Amino acid sequence: MQANLSHGLLLFWSQWRRRFTDTGAIAPSSPQLGRALSEPLLQRRGGPMRVLEVGAGTGAVTRQALARLRRGDAFDVCEINPEFCAYLSAALRQWDESAPGVRVRLLQADVRTIQPGDDGAYDRIICGLPFNNFAPAQVSELFNHLLSLLAPGGVLSYFEYTWLRQLRIGLMGPGPERERLRAITEISRRLWARHEFDSTAVWWNLPPATAHHLHA
Ligand SMILES: C[S@@+](CC[C@H](N)C(=O)[O-])C[C@H]1O[C@@H](n2cnc3c(N)ncnc32)[C@H](O)[C@@H]1O
Repeated sequence: MQANLSHGLLLFWSQWRRRFTDTGAIAPSSPQLGRALSEPLLQRRGGPMRVLEVGAGTGAVTRQALARLRRGDAFDVCEINPEFCAYLSAALRQWDESAPGVRVRLLQADVRTIQPGDDGAYDRIICGLPFNNFAPAQVSELFNHLLSLLAPGGVLSYFEYTWLRQLRIGLMGPGPERERLRAITEISRRLWARHEFDSTAVWWNLPPATAHHLHA
């Protein structure tokens, strides 16, 4: 399979139509959002890092992350959708040379099945999951799981579309869908109050997004 920009966009759009809940976005993240999410990879305190990306899609953020890794680092790329994994596998072969000496593994899996394993927990996790599409219990489960995969001092970075959930709540009549979104807002507020140490607004993205950075 050939991994290129137009194929990636087409694949993303077709998966958005076929697997809306998992995919959650009509287009991949912009390079600007990829950079904001990868920023903690530049903040190092010494030796090699273990990095996990969750929900890599067509690799828009993966590519930015790879460019910030160094020889000796380990990079696990987790994606649940086999079609995205086939694309990523080809793309990673092309991008390999931008990160010499970095050990890259593509994991076709639901992130909830990933455990820290023998080689330890992750120093950085970058997450692109579409939390707004999930049930509140699943959102809590996913955040608890991701935080549990962090090594001491590790950073979890994820994004959400700025004001999109609040806008949908405002436009929606009463009902279970509005309650679901409100519950996710409440989970997010608690998460930020307890774990967030930084956030970055990224206007150059469709739609604009905020990158959140959390400690365990
Ligand atoms: C909003 S897209 C983000 C794609 C890419 N990171 C980007 O920013 O362009 C969400 C991605 O998460 C993947 N995904 C959804 N649920 C997942 C799960 N439980 N485990 C791993 N990946 C998942 C989807 O298949 C999709 O590729």
